Amino acid sequence: MSAVLNFIRLQDLIDQNALQGKRVFIRADLNVPQDDDGNITEDTRIRASVPAIKAAVAAGAKVMVTSHLGRPTEGEFKPEDSLAPVAKRLSELLGQPVELKQNWVDGAGLEGLQTGQVVLLENVRVNKGEKKNSDELAQKMAALCDIYVNDAFGTAHRAEASTHGIAKFAPVAAAGPLLAAELDALGKALGAPARPLLAIVAGSKVSSKLSILKALADKVDNLIVGGGIANTFMKAVGLNIGKSLVENDLVDEAKAIIDIMAKRGAQVPIPVDVVCAKEFSPTAAATVKDVKDVADDDMILDIGPKTAALLAAQIAAAGTVVWNGPVGVFEFDQFGEGTKALALAIAESKAFSIAGGGDTLAAIAKYNISEQVGYISTGGGAFLEFLEGKILPAVEILTQRAAAK
Ligand code: 3PG
Ligand code: MG
Repeated sequence: MSAVLNFIRLQDLIDQNALQGKRVFIRADLNVPQDDDGNITEDTRIRASVPAIKAAVAAGAKVMVTSHLGRPTEGEFKPEDSLAPVAKRLSELLGQPVELKQNWVDGAGLEGLQTGQVVLLENVRVNKGEKKNSDELAQKMAALCDIYVNDAFGTAHRAEASTHGIAKFAPVAAAGPLLAAELDALGKALGAPARPLLAIVAGSKVSSKLSILKALADKVDNLIVGGGIANTFMKAVGLNIGKSLVENDLVDEAKAIIDIMAKRGAQVPIPVDVVCAKEFSPTAAATVKDVKDVADDDMILDIGPKTAALLAAQIAAAGTVVWNGPVGVFEFDQFGEGTKALALAIAESKAFSIAGGGDTLAAIAKYNISEQVGYISTGGGAFLEFLEGKILPAVEILTQRAAAK
């Protein structure tokens, strides 16, 4: 799953004293969850982006940072798309003011940037052409800087103007420390993983994770599926799943994955008990049932205690655990026991564990196991695509730039 990746690193440039007085444009992934009032509910990505910015400041650069936030409509800035809350948090973490700049693409407001100053450039996805990786937009952004630094691992699977195009045109294009560390850590852990290699892939839909499930079916020793994904697999082995979330058109794909695994002597463990409810709500009554007792009006919202214990034993025996997605509706405590049990098993296991994805990070925080996870990735989709063995386009362009030198 890993290849040797050659690209220029920010640290290489700092070692050469190449940042002094230079305009440095850092593409970070500051796409953090917010509540309805715009308060940041989880700031891992902001904290993880601080080292690159601090290093650039310390090296005497004039620093511009940008990121996307959500998926706004291009050309239509709305207040809820603003990085203003991020600017505030970033400023606290850096211990220096971080001014937020609007309408910056043509360089307005960036002329007087001082050495050691940090400005945040408003939501990069509001710019027309960002998503389609427009050369015109990428050239304009490249013209703002002497050095482009991509530190946005979480967005490295997207070829957009600020993650890909700009790297073609900037005078120098380098990887930031977060991007480099993610690639190093994930590559090392997955290049020659200690066996058994166990993956937990959970979430609401098989369709959104089908390619990762298929890729892992060829690689891992145990593939634990959870959430709505597990329902489709349960249906594939002939179990009644009542009115649970399911994708009927993917039942055959689920069967195929089970077969591929079985042929290799690997397995997709199917739950033996589940937690059911008659409705989906924070106050719904939770009932533990044997899988053969699921009724037509039941919704499966978690794995049961017997299943959790069986899976915990597999986690305890694993050499490497890769975790993406909670196995139940853990936001509601009565359907969180399965995810909690697996989280604690990961925490206690001697296996090297790697976790990624927004919901997974929330579960890690809720069950307070972050110190016991081997490596926590800031990527969601990017983490999954890396696991699949795909070359992330934002990384590929940096390697191409390095090769062209
Ligand atoms: C993420 O949240 O996974 C990244 O920030 C990428 O966001 P996107 O899926 O909107 O491209
Ligand atoms: Mg997302």
